[in-house]
Amino acid sequence: MIVAIDGPSGAGKSTVSKLVAERLGFSCLDTGAMYRCVAWRAAQEGVDLGDQAQLGRIAREARIEFVHEPGSIAARAVLVDGCDVTAQIRTAQIDRAVSAVSAVVAVREALVDQQRAIGAGGDFVVEGRDIGTVVFPQAEVKVFLTASNEERARRRVAQNAERGVGSVDFDEVLADIVARDARDEARAASPLVAADDAALIDSTRFSRDEVVARICALAAEKLS
Ligand code: DC
Repeated sequence: MIVAIDGPSGAGKSTVSKLVAERLGFSCLDTGAMYRCVAWRAAQEGVDLGDQAQLGRIAREARIEFVHEPGSIAARAVLVDGCDVTAQIRTAQIDRAVSAVSAVVAVREALVDQQRAIGAGGDFVVEGRDIGTVVFPQAEVKVFLTASNEERARRRVAQNAERGVGSVDFDEVLADIVARDARDEARAASPLVAADDAALIDSTRFSRDEVVARICALAAEKLS
């Protein structure tokens, strides 16, 4: 079974995905981390963000691995060609570069192929932007998770503070979030949009536990 959780940045997808996966006994796949890995590798190689051919090559060639502790649902680390980039893909620099990278068709094609291959290996909660529309249009459960811009900025600041990476300036984070959403929604390739058959959940109005319970209830309906 695939539980697809899409939505804009900072809507709470990561936390909710992990909790849902834990409750259901599923694995968890963070597809945004894969786009971040390509952006990181491009920066390492000094590849221009306008160079679509080189970005496509990186997406095809980079070996992206999620390292799991035995028995744990969420990945402990993300590796690119054996290098641990877990913290480095969460910097403000990568936050800004990743929209351009994720708008490149060749990048999306390469990563979508990898995401489908991973998802074919078992029951997954998959979080991203195009999971219910493009990657797994046949997903049994589809959720589009949103929250107000301010709430999302507040959460991202708290998350950055906890991780010790990225900006903790509310106004800067809010401006980045609004700009990134606009780019993600406007891009031609797989824009950020809710699938017609997705359940829309506004996490500003519900507690984290209520959101998790709603998604688990949707999954339970399909499983029964
Ligand atoms: O969820 P995130 O902030 O880590 O995602 C990083 C970027 O990757 C974000 O700008 C949108 C993009 N993305 C995408 O285009 N498709 C996905 N399935 C996941 C993320």
